[in-house]
Amino acid sequence: MLWVKSFHIICVVTWFAALFYLPRLFVYHAMSDDHASNERFKIMERKLYRGIMTPSAVLALFFGGWLLSYYTLEQLAAMHWLHAKLTLVALLFAYHGYCGRLLKHFKNDANQRSHVFYRWFNELPVFILISVVILAVVKPF
Ligand code: HEM
Repeated sequence: MLWVKSFHIICVVTWFAALFYLPRLFVYHAMSDDHASNERFKIMERKLYRGIMTPSAVLALFFGGWLLSYYTLEQLAAMHWLHAKLTLVALLFAYHGYCGRLLKHFKNDANQRSHVFYRWFNELPVFILISVVILAVVKPF
């Protein structure tokens, strides 16, 4: 189980690296007004989203699911910290999906949002990371 948990945490770390970096690229992309930068940001965003962010999310879910299999349904029903954690993780997957939509808007030169929006948008995963790690390690309820 500890090997599975180790790989779960490794995948979570790489997922968050991309969850923090992609919206930051959106900040600078929304500020750029020359063709060369615009095309360069599109390539960086696509490679980050498809090459790191999405595979890491899928593997974090795979190893997380594998960890769930070590518990009986009765045990899982009593793990209220896990219910709260998975609710926040569902929000994280929604955030991930919305990043995919925003990436398409930039790809089609159809971004409507300002760099200020993306600066605030970039902060959201921070709150989820802090809450989920405390829930998973401290298991407060
Ligand atoms: C993607 C869906 C996820 C599932 C199904 C899942 C499920 C689990 C399960 C069942 C455990 C084992 C708990 C234990 O036995 O102690 C675990 C451990 C852990 N998870 Fe997740 N998790 C998911 C996502 C995440 C995310 C997004 C984070 C970080 C933000 C995270 C951080 C952790 C940590 C730090 C541990 C180790 C806790 C400890 O050993 O004390 N997990 N996860």
